[in-house]
Amino acid sequence: MSHEKIETRVGVLIGLILFAVSIGGVVEIFPLLFDSGTKPIANLRPYDALSLEGRDIYIREGCVGCHTQMVRTLRSESQRYGHYSVAGEDLYERPFLWGSKRTGPDLARVGGRYSDDWHRAHLADPRSVVPVSNMPAYPWLFENTLTGEDTATKMETLRTLGVPYSDAEIAGAQAAVAGRTEAEALIAYLQTLGLDMRNYSAEAEAEAAPAASSAGGQ
Ligand code: HEC
Repeated sequence: MSHEKIETRVGVLIGLILFAVSIGGVVEIFPLLFDSGTKPIANLRPYDALSLEGRDIYIREGCVGCHTQMVRTLRSESQRYGHYSVAGEDLYERPFLWGSKRTGPDLARVGGRYSDDWHRAHLADPRSVVPVSNMPAYPWLFENTLTGEDTATKMETLRTLGVPYSDAEIAGAQAAVAGRTEAEALIAYLQTLGLDMRNYSAEAEAEAAPAASSAGGQ
């Protein structure tokens, strides 16, 4: 029996198992190399130069260790934070900062929720605005200033990865950042979080891109 021949030869068996399993991989993964099926949401804008620097400070300071940027599809979450996160809002996130630990609240929709003054007070001394807070203070962000000398390069790199920065935005990047404090940049970043998702409607997105939504399978 041919079955017996296969089952008694371990090498052949392993080879055929790998072949069978790889078919599933090829069918699922190969098309994604050409088109992920995820389209940017209608209002998606890349971070401006200052917010982009703020994002890097967010990464450097480890904010992602205590804060997620991922609103789950639960009613309690969307009532507290706003619309649940969708794939199309994260296309320019490199690396993404979804996080997995919520010592503090989710920040995906925090843009516009507080004033810049509130953020300044909060970053300098969280207990001054939220007495029970156990968030650390970040006083050095107010002393360090940015030179902006790498900002244009960062934007160019992101552009090669598909983020649609214009030549003018890249040319003006250093001037927009130089001399600003790290706190200003971080607050500019925080104030943009979730703004693109205002007025988001799943139905409108589906109408605009019927092929993409059916390819997503949800
Ligand atoms: C050790 C954990 C921890 C770290 C690290 C941390 N946070 Fe927080 N954060 C909290 C907690 C807890 C709260 C809730 C209490 C408060 O508002 O201070 C909070 C609240 C916030 C809020 C208010 C959110 C809201 O919806 O009320 C913002 C904005 C924020 N953090 C930004 C940051 C930024 C920016 C960083 C990095 C520079 C950071 N956090 C680092 C724990 C942390």
